[in-house]
Amino acid sequence: MGFIKKGIIEVKATLHLDTQHNVGTIDSRIFGGFSEHMGRCIYEGIYDPGSPLADERGFRLDVLAALKKLRMPIMRYPGGNFVSTYNWVDGIGPRSERPRRPDYAWRSVETNQFGTDEFMEWAKELGTETMMAINLGTKGATEAAALLEYCNLPVGTYWADKRAENGHPDPYNVKLWCLGNEMDGPWQAGHVPAEEYARRADQAGKIMRGLDKSIELIACGSSGRGMATYLNYDRVTLEYCWNDIQYVSAHRYSENHRNDTGWFLAEGTEIERVIEDYAGLFDYVRGLKRSDKRVYLSFDEWNVWYKAKEMDGRWTEAPHLIEEVYNLEDALVAAQYLNAFIRRADVVKIGCIAQTVNVIAPLLTKKDGLLVQSIYYPFALMAEYAVGKSLRIALDSPVYTAGERGETPVVDVSASYAEDGTLAVFGVNRSQTEAVDLVIHAADVRAVAITGVDQLSGTDPKAANSWEQPNLLTQQAGTATVNENGDVVFSIPALGFAAVRATTAAR
Ligand code: AHR
Repeated sequence: MGFIKKGIIEVKATLHLDTQHNVGTIDSRIFGGFSEHMGRCIYEGIYDPGSPLADERGFRLDVLAALKKLRMPIMRYPGGNFVSTYNWVDGIGPRSERPRRPDYAWRSVETNQFGTDEFMEWAKELGTETMMAINLGTKGATEAAALLEYCNLPVGTYWADKRAENGHPDPYNVKLWCLGNEMDGPWQAGHVPAEEYARRADQAGKIMRGLDKSIELIACGSSGRGMATYLNYDRVTLEYCWNDIQYVSAHRYSENHRNDTGWFLAEGTEIERVIEDYAGLFDYVRGLKRSDKRVYLSFDEWNVWYKAKEMDGRWTEAPHLIEEVYNLEDALVAAQYLNAFIRRADVVKIGCIAQTVNVIAPLLTKKDGLLVQSIYYPFALMAEYAVGKSLRIALDSPVYTAGERGETPVVDVSASYAEDGTLAVFGVNRSQTEAVDLVIHAADVRAVAITGVDQLSGTDPKAANSWEQPNLLTQQAGTATVNENGDVVFSIPALGFAAVRATTAAR
């Protein structure tokens, strides 16, 4: 994997860039979030009136402050599987009159004390646009149109007037609408074959866009690459709905059941495969249609999820469901999701980490405290610094054998170039033992000064923050230099992620 020098193995990699060679502008919406009525995401996460850390509206201020640093430009809501039996009308109006309902998806009690208006207010406080999912499982176009009217139309019609009655005269202007959730999955309430879903989605979408032409629609794609209908469900839907939708949704949850860190850390190659699959499918259907239109990928659920699998709320309120604890190797995989989205900025326009608080999330709460998990750090760094164009990657990296995934580059990397000439590179070192010396050479610009290096690393892939040791894994400042050739040179620690930034000037 490297050269032996005085008993030390040196691993070297070179990244060749050219700022004229890019794959397009990075859409900041790849750094979106997802908040579902599941477990303790909404109740006890976002909304926790009983907590000393909540404001007078019940919003957890510590959660808001931590999420603000993730700069999420969009937030998907209210589900997830939850949405497929949800009646949004239950969640509006005077709180005392809202019904308590059994939630089919998570066998929990939904109090409806938090609904559309509370979500809009919370999102405004966070500074994020909203991305609403409609129920296409057990409801249809009529209910979806009513929700759109409630959210986006000016007063003067029934549901828009209801919004005003509830204290919100101005429309919320929600631009992104998901046409159901994971409708390919047999677990989904109202799951149907692709042909039927496509008709439902098309009917709802047509009426919704008829009411508000400014909205964009996301059709359900496959809920995972392991589904027997993978890409076929998507193809049928795309062919039927081509003219009315702007995005297809993909979901992926990564796992390390085999407890093989080397194999797990090669996950980025599989994530990229999914994006490639969709890029091919979009081109295929575009060709069939002889169309000039482009449809893009909305990767609106992604994360590591395999350790915490409790999904039965046993008919209680805000049960502890899928509260995954994230370790170092998980954070390195989370960084690879974002690296893949950046590398394929031409295909992926929306991404939502699933989820935001408590439920497979970067943040965990207790009544009087907040725990920041490992996956938070690469997300925060990339959301802040991956700005501008995504540069084409030509990487010269040593490889290792990642079990059955075969030969895999030791380094996983993406690069951005901002209008002000700032070059940013995000690298994951998959080696568990050796640091990688990375040289970043841009053909047309030279680095002038290093403006920042931040990294997350450790020696134990299973190390994780806990209430007892909340800062075991946090981002640390690193160092980088500019060599006589105007290249950036720095070292990514073993089991490490690093984000390096440099100003540049023409060569
Ligand atoms: O994020 C948890 C669940 O995972 C979502 O509700 C569903 O869409 C997916 O299967």
